[in-house]
Amino acid sequence: MAEPKENNKKYVTLVDHQSGKSIDLPVLSGSIGPDVIDIRKLYAETGYFTYDPGFTSTGSCQSEITYIDGDAGILTHRGYSIEDLTEHCTYMEVAYLLLNGELPNQAEKDDFERTITYHTMVHEQLLNFYRGFRRDAHPMAILVGVVGALSSFYHDSTDINDPTQRMIASHRLIAKLPTIAAMAYKYSVGQPFIYPRNDLTYAEDFLHMTFSVPAEDYQISPTVARAMDRIFILHADHEQNASTSTVRLAGSSGANPFACIASGISSLWGPAHGGANEAVLNMLAEIGHKKNIPEFLEKAKDKNDPFRLMGFGHRVYKNHDPRAKVLKKSADDVLNELGVSDPLLDLARELEQIALKDDYFVERKLFPNVDFYSGVILKAIGFPTSMFTVLFALARTTGWIAQWNEMITDPTQKIGRPRQLFTGHGERAFVPIDKR
Ligand code: CMC
Repeated sequence: MAEPKENNKKYVTLVDHQSGKSIDLPVLSGSIGPDVIDIRKLYAETGYFTYDPGFTSTGSCQSEITYIDGDAGILTHRGYSIEDLTEHCTYMEVAYLLLNGELPNQAEKDDFERTITYHTMVHEQLLNFYRGFRRDAHPMAILVGVVGALSSFYHDSTDINDPTQRMIASHRLIAKLPTIAAMAYKYSVGQPFIYPRNDLTYAEDFLHMTFSVPAEDYQISPTVARAMDRIFILHADHEQNASTSTVRLAGSSGANPFACIASGISSLWGPAHGGANEAVLNMLAEIGHKKNIPEFLEKAKDKNDPFRLMGFGHRVYKNHDPRAKVLKKSADDVLNELGVSDPLLDLARELEQIALKDDYFVERKLFPNVDFYSGVILKAIGFPTSMFTVLFALARTTGWIAQWNEMITDPTQKIGRPRQLFTGHGERAFVPIDKR
């Protein structure tokens, strides 16, 4: 990756009216999207930092992987629209694209799938970690622990300056996450772990490891396997969100890649981020009936009530989340195929219609996000709500590791170290304990 391009013709002048000094800050241009003001020399030349809690106006890195136009509702990976990728590709092709920059040809695809397939088993010693968890542990808690534990198993792939080792670690993570996620589920329901099968696709294998038992194989419906694969594609990457930024920040110190992914999983778990898919279903169950929708909408609008409409709103999308559109259609297909009629899907549709006409949601440009419909599909397939965020983490591992690789090879990369606006005490005289 090259140094960012300085747009020679454009500068932004910052004037300090107190001292009368001014500084010209260069404007950098990406290939598409808004230009950015390069403030790297700001502190050295003016003594000022910037203040931007939540990073609402801050670009933390340059990236070639994922582009979002939040106003237009556009999401592309390496230039390809999410609609095209979900329609025409498998998750394995998208994983290859995110990692390598181009879609694979047939030979590259076969080779990548073979590599991932042959890394799906986990070390038998890892099984002992599961036995240490309570049976009722949240599967995200297990995932954080077990993925972090992987860092102790692979000394041959932890020299992050060696591109081959980095790629081996990336393949291992993509391959082992479904096995680890399925094992977290099996542990919670008290069933034996099911080993991966090399003759199945990535999505099929995950369904097999989750739902087969030694006495009986799970019958994999092609529609369900395709829907699972699509859900993986839709969650594969999403630019510099909280968990991806966490992975980059953790990795910026040169930390072990498996440990960095565990840090991303921790960040994803929260209800404002990946935990929202679980929260949506809990919310729909709590609303219970269409007649209760107005009451819950009022709660969502009340600033004194912590309730928020889960699955609605997004930091970047101020228009329909394109992933939600694809999922809404998938929800119909899967429920038809499985012959499930879920009143929660009807409730979700009704809630969406009412919220989209409500002034509060219209004015704030709050639309359904990816989590609004994914839970209904996952529930129909048979996943308990506690597994929803685990599936998000499984799919997002590809994006995290692609972004981590990009960060390591970026010549402008430095350890991430934000500054602060200090508002605590200045230096004061120490008070001995008997005088406090
Ligand atoms: N219900 C009610 N009000 C909302 C909601 C909501 N879901 N989302 C935002 N608002 C209001 C918010 O109160 C604020 O109002 P005001 O301007 O009057 O103070 C305004 O809309 C702007 O919201 P914000 O909190 O400043 O926006 P943000 O960019 O900081 O937050 C968000 C984005 C996704 C955290 C937030 O919309 C939210 O909490 N949504 C519900 C949780 C959710 O569905 N998360 C999944 C996000 S998509 C998948 C992922 O990234 O993991």
